[in-house]
Amino acid sequence: MPGTQLRGLLATIFLALLCAFSVASIAFGQESQANGDDPGTSEAVQRGAYVLRAAGCYGCHTDEKGGGAPLAGGRALKTPFGTFYSPNITPHPEHGIGAWSDAEFHDALRHGVTPAGDPYYPAFPYTSYTGMTDADIRDLKAYLFAQDPVETVNKPHELDFPYSMRFTLGIWKTLYFEAGAFEPDPAREAAWNRGAYLVRHLGHCGECHSPRGSLGAVDPDRELAGNPLGPDGGKVPNLTPAEGALAGWSESDIVWAIRDGLTPEGDYLSDSMGEVIEHGTSHLTADDLSAIAIYLKSLPPLSGP
Ligand code: HEC
Ligand code: HEC
Repeated sequence: MPGTQLRGLLATIFLALLCAFSVASIAFGQESQANGDDPGTSEAVQRGAYVLRAAGCYGCHTDEKGGGAPLAGGRALKTPFGTFYSPNITPHPEHGIGAWSDAEFHDALRHGVTPAGDPYYPAFPYTSYTGMTDADIRDLKAYLFAQDPVETVNKPHELDFPYSMRFTLGIWKTLYFEAGAFEPDPAREAAWNRGAYLVRHLGHCGECHSPRGSLGAVDPDRELAGNPLGPDGGKVPNLTPAEGALAGWSESDIVWAIRDGLTPEGDYLSDSMGEVIEHGTSHLTADDLSAIAIYLKSLPPLSGP
């Protein structure tokens, strides 16, 4: 066969293969759009694993002390309103969230509502997660749905009256909750914006480090000023650059503390912060750790707790 003809034949075969491939991918794209759900590529699963760590989902949704399976819930969270038990968020179709659509998962994090349309208790910190980007929410679901389904049955919360009535939360949400994805400040550099996103939304640092009013809402004017009554009943330190707080800390002091758990005074961070570090911040990239430090050092100094 003369060379030009052979090249022509190869080009035809190549084109035919290319067309078949694009038709297949269009068909696949349409199919996954048809039920509205993205099955998630392996890259999405990997990105989701990182989001899960930065967001600290694992610690709350795993009953490590009770020997529970990862993400299968059952961890007790004691609060002034009673004890919450985190639910199973493995993809088990009956006992986990395996039957949830992308939209239901999105609405839980962005709007704090159950698939039936009821409000969630803010013990699930959707008050911070509401700022997550659509992309991070999609990747997180791809990761969760790539895990093994676990059959653990959810435990009902043990709450005091009237907090035990879920509908009362509707009122709380109208007063204190505003949904909306994080919007970067164009006047600030990219690292500051990334830090703000990690601290205020994914890392939900203020859920422990900000003081709360009597109905449990974070005071927006005292963000990160420390909390006299933290999750374990103890004091949670002030993260603003005030005297007696982080004024004397350099950015690298902050990075050391949240990556290795060691403060400039040589103390090891423990309790609930030890857990945040172990399952969360120690796994962050160097860029993300320094973004958090840049953001914290830029805050207005507030006294407290
Ligand atoms: C501070 C502890 C805590 C953290 C951190 C946390 N959750 Fe939860 N989560 C809860 C609690 C408690 C509930 C139950 C709330 C309720 O019953 O109203 C819950 C509920 C949920 C639900 C609803 C499940 C259902 O069956 O209705 C989903 C989904 C969920 N969390 C996913 C996540 C994801 C994803 C993350 C990380 C981005 C996360 N949670 C981080 C405590 C937590
Ligand atoms: C679950 C509650 C909780 C969350 C969430 C949390 N922290 Fe903490 N943090 C604590 C507690 C409690 C301490 C005090 C620990 C100790 O003294 O051993 C602390 C201590 C610290 C310290 C040391 C401050 C000092 O003066 O010694 C830094 C820095 C810090 N946290 C940063 C963060 C950042 C950044 C985030 C978000 C990515 C975060 N924390 C999220 C509870 C939390």
